[in-house]
Amino acid sequence: MHNDVKNPTRRQLFKAIGAATAAGATAGLLPGCGKSARHTRENLSFSEIPHTLDARHHLPKEYSANVLLRWGDPLVASAGSFNPATLTASEQEKRFGYNNDFIGYMPLDDKAGPGEGEHHCRSRNSARGLLCVNHEYTQPHLMFSGYNDKYSATRGVSAEHVAVEQAACGHTVVEIEQTADGWQPVLSSPYNRRISLNTPMHIVGPAAGDRRLQTAADSSGTRVFGTVGNCAGGKTPWGTVLIAEEGFGGAFQGDPDNIADPVESLNHHAFGIAPDNRNWGDHDRRFDIGVEPHEPNRFGWMVEYDPYDPDSTPRKLTSLGRFEHEGFTLVSKPGQPIVAYGGDDDEHQFVYRYVSSDIYKPDDFSHNRDLLIDGTLYAARFDEGGSGRWLPLLFGQGPLTRENGFRNQADVLIDARRAAALLGATPMDRPEDVETNSVNDCTYVMLTKNKKRDSDEIDAANPRARNATGHVLEIVPPGQYGRRDHTSDTFKWNTFLLGGNPNAENPNERGAYGQQLPGAISANGWFANPDNVAFDPRGNMWIATDGCEGFGFHDGLWAMATDGELRAAPKHFFGCPQGAEACGPEFTPDGKTLFVAVQHPADGGGSTFDRPLHRWPDNDPALPPRPAVLAIRRRNGNEIGS
Ligand code: FEO
Ligand code: CA
Ligand code: CA
Repeated sequence: MHNDVKNPTRRQLFKAIGAATAAGATAGLLPGCGKSARHTRENLSFSEIPHTLDARHHLPKEYSANVLLRWGDPLVASAGSFNPATLTASEQEKRFGYNNDFIGYMPLDDKAGPGEGEHHCRSRNSARGLLCVNHEYTQPHLMFSGYNDKYSATRGVSAEHVAVEQAACGHTVVEIEQTADGWQPVLSSPYNRRISLNTPMHIVGPAAGDRRLQTAADSSGTRVFGTVGNCAGGKTPWGTVLIAEEGFGGAFQGDPDNIADPVESLNHHAFGIAPDNRNWGDHDRRFDIGVEPHEPNRFGWMVEYDPYDPDSTPRKLTSLGRFEHEGFTLVSKPGQPIVAYGGDDDEHQFVYRYVSSDIYKPDDFSHNRDLLIDGTLYAARFDEGGSGRWLPLLFGQGPLTRENGFRNQADVLIDARRAAALLGATPMDRPEDVETNSVNDCTYVMLTKNKKRDSDEIDAANPRARNATGHVLEIVPPGQYGRRDHTSDTFKWNTFLLGGNPNAENPNERGAYGQQLPGAISANGWFANPDNVAFDPRGNMWIATDGCEGFGFHDGLWAMATDGELRAAPKHFFGCPQGAEACGPEFTPDGKTLFVAVQHPADGGGSTFDRPLHRWPDNDPALPPRPAVLAIRRRNGNEIGS
C-alpha cells in the first residue's frame, strides 16, 4: 500500500523512543550469513532491463508473461464477462478482487480432492495448483465512474459502491493450471472461493472472547465478519495460508477523542482512525467507532485458513498479536517448535517473532493445525555491534503489568505495539516482509522507508535520518550455515543493503550494495523501498519495491545472491506499468514460474476511472486500469534466473 493511503495524522503519535548513536550510513557491508561462494549472481543470467517509466510492464527479452487474473475476472463460469458499470456486490463476490498483493501458490495433487490438503501440499505439483491472493484495499475513484478525485470518492462513496468495495477486499482462492497458452484459471474448480468483508470467521487464541473483542452483534467476542487491509501473508507446511490485516484503521471512521474509554481512544488513534477516513461507517454502521467502539479490535490480526477445504471457516490468530501486519512467514523444522517472523508496517514499529509451545511433526497434520494458536510472541531489539535479542510479550513479565494498564495477556496482544515499546524493542523504518532463506537459514527484514525518523533517533539498525529509500537487514540466528537455531533468544544481525542510488549526493539516500565491487551492479541495478521478498529454490533473493517512482522509474523486481562475491548486488528483472507497485512474488516449487501481483496500476497524478493515466493491462477504452497477476515464464521453459 502506498504510504499516503493510510491516514498520515496518526504517525505523529508515535514519537520514537530514540536510540542515540549512529553507524555511518554507507559503511562497508559485512559478509554476514554467507559462507559459500556457490550462490553467486553469475547464475542470474537474464538480460537486465532498464529503469523506465511508461504504461507497460517490462521483462528480460528471454522471458514472457501472461495476464492470469485481473480485477473483475470471473471465478465461476456463470459469472460472465466483466462490466464495471453494472457491477453489484453479489457479483463481485464471484469475481477476482481489487488491488492484488500477497500470492501463495499451493500445489494440487491430481489424485486428491477437496479436504485432502495433506496430500496436495506434499505433491509439489508445479503445473496445477491453487493461487491464493490477497486484495489489500479499494480505490473507488479508479473502480467507478463519476468520482472526480480520490478524496471525493473516499468520503462520498454511495451505499452500493461501499458494498462492492467490501466484496472486493479480502482474498481469492482460484485453481490454475498450466496450458499450451500459459497459465489459466479453472472456472469449474470446486476450490474457487472469495473471502471478503462478509465472510464469517472465528477469533481464536489467548485474546479470543475478551471483553475488548465483544460487540453488540457478537457478545462472545469470538465471531467476526471478514478481513480487510490484506497485505502480505505466509504459508504453512500443513497446507494452510496466512493472510495479514495491515491498514485496517482506514476502514473505520469516527473521532477517537470522543471514545470514553481512554485505553480504546489511544488504541484507535494508534491505528489512524479519524473523522475524515473513508465513509463506510455511514452505510455499514460497524465501521463507525461512535457506534461500535470495539469493532476495530477485531481487526489487525493474522488470519489462517485452509484453501484445500472450500467450506472451512478462517480464523484470526490472536497469538500473533494485533498491529499493522505485513505478513508472517514460517521456519518449520521437524521435531522443533514452529518459528514465524513478521513485521508491523508503520513508522517506528517493530519486528516480531513467534515460537510455538509445541513441536512441529511433519506427519501429523491435525497436531500441526494448532501450532499457531499456543505460543509466545517476541519483539526484536537490535543492539549496537551486531547483536540482538528477542523480548517476550508476556503479561506479568517486566513492564507488562497492571501498573502499566495491562489487565491480562489479551491486553498485551491487543495492544502489542505498546507492549513491545515498553519492553525496549527497537523502533524500525517500517518493517514489511520478514522472510527466511531456506538455503542459508538466515532471515531478511525489508525496511521500506521512514521519513519521520529524526536525526537524533537514528541507531545502528536504522542508520539514516528521514530514510527515503529503505534498507534490508539480515538476522543470523546461532548455528551453522543452513542449520541455525531460530528459537534462540539471541541473534546476530547486519545490514544486507541500503536502498537508493549508490551515487546519490545526499548521504541519507545513498545506496550501498554488497561488497561494492566495481561493476557489480549496473546503473539499473539499484532500487528503493523494498517491500515484499521471495527466494528462488537456489536461495537467490527477489525483492519487490513500492516507491521507485519517487526516484524517476517504475517499481518492480530486483534479484540478487545472498552469498558469495556478488551477495546483495541486485540485477533488475521486472518493471511495472506506471502508478503500480510490485507485490507478492511467488515461485512454483520447481522455480520455473514466477507470479507477480501488479497493484494499483495508473494510480496517482489525478488519475480516475473517467480519466485514467492509462488502461493497463487491457488497453481497452471500455475498461479502466485493472490490478492484475502475471505468470512469468522463461521462453525456453527453464528455471527462472538460472
Ligand atoms: Fe501493504 Fe506494507 O504494504
Ligand atoms: Ca506496499
Ligand atoms: Ca507490502
